Amino acid sequence: MTDFSSLLISESAAVAKDVDRAFDLLLAVPDDPRAPLFEAMRHAAIGGGKRMRPLLVNATARLFNVSQDAALRVGCAIEAIHVYSLIHDDLPCMDDDDMRRGKPTVHKAFNEAIAVLAGDSLHALAFEWLAEDETHPDPFVRSELVLEIGKASGPSGMAGGQMMDLAAEGQEFDLATITRLQQLKTGALIMVCVEAGAILGRVPPEGRVHLRAYARDIGLAFQIADDLLDAEGDAAVTGKAVGKDADAGKATFLSILGIDKARAQAHLLVDQAISHLSSYGPEADLLRAIARYVIERDR
Ligand code: IPE
Ligand code: IPE
Ligand code: MG
Ligand code: MG
Ligand code: MG
Repeated sequence: MTDFSSLLISESAAVAKDVDRAFDLLLAVPDDPRAPLFEAMRHAAIGGGKRMRPLLVNATARLFNVSQDAALRVGCAIEAIHVYSLIHDDLPCMDDDDMRRGKPTVHKAFNEAIAVLAGDSLHALAFEWLAEDETHPDPFVRSELVLEIGKASGPSGMAGGQMMDLAAEGQEFDLATITRLQQLKTGALIMVCVEAGAILGRVPPEGRVHLRAYARDIGLAFQIADDLLDAEGDAAVTGKAVGKDADAGKATFLSILGIDKARAQAHLLVDQAISHLSSYGPEADLLRAIARYVIERDR
């Protein structure tokens, strides 16, 4: 029996260290008036977060013997998009939050204009890094990464989900609409981490079916866990304010299913995600460990 938790702890610590080191190099502060913009990006991107997206790219890439450097680069690009989405999500015009990853949010530590620009810059830099030769020698692979990660980030992905989330305030969405909202807001970027690992491994789309099913299930479970943490988590542990969804009267899985049913649904999704990996052996144990972690996490 594999010890999933020790595997997850060691691998996620290694990825977190690699991501911090990569961002440190990629976001060197210039000696000119743009310095505060870089300081703000570093504040948000370095030293914090679970780094689940780069870990997912790494865990999928290892199924196909992809180089760790390539997986790290792509993981950092997706993490940069995620960090940008958090900076903008915390702005006064969206969730108006003061704390993120146990630190003041970017608009609090700097100001709103810098927070907007830091988000914009991380978003653009992600695609610059993906398109560079170092990501993969084959331009077709790079262009597929850019295409899929672009789709997962924009109006058919994260940004579209954020729009639906804004519309969810004071609304009575049905389960299908909430599922679609979460799929776009959180699921799309999580799914594309797994997809990207397979793209780097040159797996054709028809060979990605089980991995996509896995990723879809953990993406939904992940957002249910986020909503559960908002309802019952501890801000000192999550590093961000809690109780915000109920205060805003936001339609979520919890508001419609209640805590117990939502938790049961998340467990079901995780079991289902793991069953989609049945054609893989121990090389997929890290993906299995991540699936468990998605709902067992306390932050
Ligand atoms: C929080 O994401 C926002 C959502 C998409 C639900 P994470 O829970 O992955 O946040 P970090 O990266 O660990 O800070
Ligand atoms: C935001 O969802 C997801 C993003 C795309 C940034 P939430 O608003 O629920 O995320 P938290 O709870 O602030 O991390
Ligand atoms: Mg939000
Ligand atoms: Mg928020
Ligand atoms: Mg939340």
